[in-house]
Amino acid sequence: MQDLVQKLQIYKSEIGEYTATDEPSVEAFRIKWLGSKGLVKTVMGAMKDVPVEQKKEAGQLLNDFKLFVEAKFSDLKEAATASSGGAEKARPDLSLPGDTIALGSRHPITLMRNKIISIFQRLGFAVAEGPEIEDDWHNFTALNMPAHHPARDMQDTFYVDAGSNSAVDWLLRTHTSNTQIRVMEKGVLPIRVICPGRVYRNETISARSHCFFHQVEGLYIDENVSFADLKQTLYFFVKEMYGGDVRVRFRPSYFPFTEPSAEMDVSCFICGGKGCNICKKTGWVEILGCGMIHPNVLQNCGIDPEKYTGFAFGMGVERPAMLKYGINDIRLFSENDVRFLRQFTSAT
Ligand code: PHE
Repeated sequence: MQDLVQKLQIYKSEIGEYTATDEPSVEAFRIKWLGSKGLVKTVMGAMKDVPVEQKKEAGQLLNDFKLFVEAKFSDLKEAATASSGGAEKARPDLSLPGDTIALGSRHPITLMRNKIISIFQRLGFAVAEGPEIEDDWHNFTALNMPAHHPARDMQDTFYVDAGSNSAVDWLLRTHTSNTQIRVMEKGVLPIRVICPGRVYRNETISARSHCFFHQVEGLYIDENVSFADLKQTLYFFVKEMYGGDVRVRFRPSYFPFTEPSAEMDVSCFICGGKGCNICKKTGWVEILGCGMIHPNVLQNCGIDPEKYTGFAFGMGVERPAMLKYGINDIRLFSENDVRFLRQFTSAT
């Protein structure tokens, strides 16, 4: 018995020191120890010479030894396949945690535009889209701004050089009112649409203004539409957008394509109307222009102004987005800096 214990100890230290970096030396180990004529079998055979009263103890020892050799063999095999870079290595380890898939985010302009659209959709407005490169008629003339009308100066325009043979002046639209003209020209009445989109004006780029920005304009035409309908529609919008406590005021204004025209302010939703930097201490923030559609505009689009009336409104998307998300520089919207964009992953 003492012999057996000693023998196993010697074997164990020999095995412990054994290293194998390739398949043949692992195989040599297997043949030597675990093969059909291997040493494990041989020492197991010694069991028959162990006296009966020691059989239990010896059996335990031999069993442990066998497990020890088998464990070593599987370690050697693993090490050899890892270092040989075989097919085994390419097999994926299913116990590893999965790669996280980065969540994309919506652009803050998209978030704000969708918010505005969804409020008007609940009132039955459909979405209409139009071209960004537009002719003079749809951007200006049809909107009661004939050539040389001074109101054209309100919107510094980028003209597109279409060559001297071009019969029309092409430009980058200065507002999405061009889309309203296109919808009216189709002549399917009544009309209830909102026109979201990008617009361009030749303005100096700064933290507050850019040469392109986004608008959502609205148009409603039917029989007997009045200024009361306009006000009620915009009240609904403001309450949904900024909450029930926000107050509204209309100021008379001028647009060539509406008569009467107004600008709408909401009580400052940052300071609650007390006066802060955002509202320039006035307590009010201007959010949109609006008015009853000028009869000339209806006529230009083939709609009888004696029978139909309508209202229109238009608002920018950048400013409300800046206020809502605390963005202090309009240029961030178009720089595509992922550090900026990533911040909107969970924004709504
Ligand atoms: N088109 C105007 C602008 O871009 C906004 C507006 C739309 C005003 C409709 C009144 C009615 O400034």
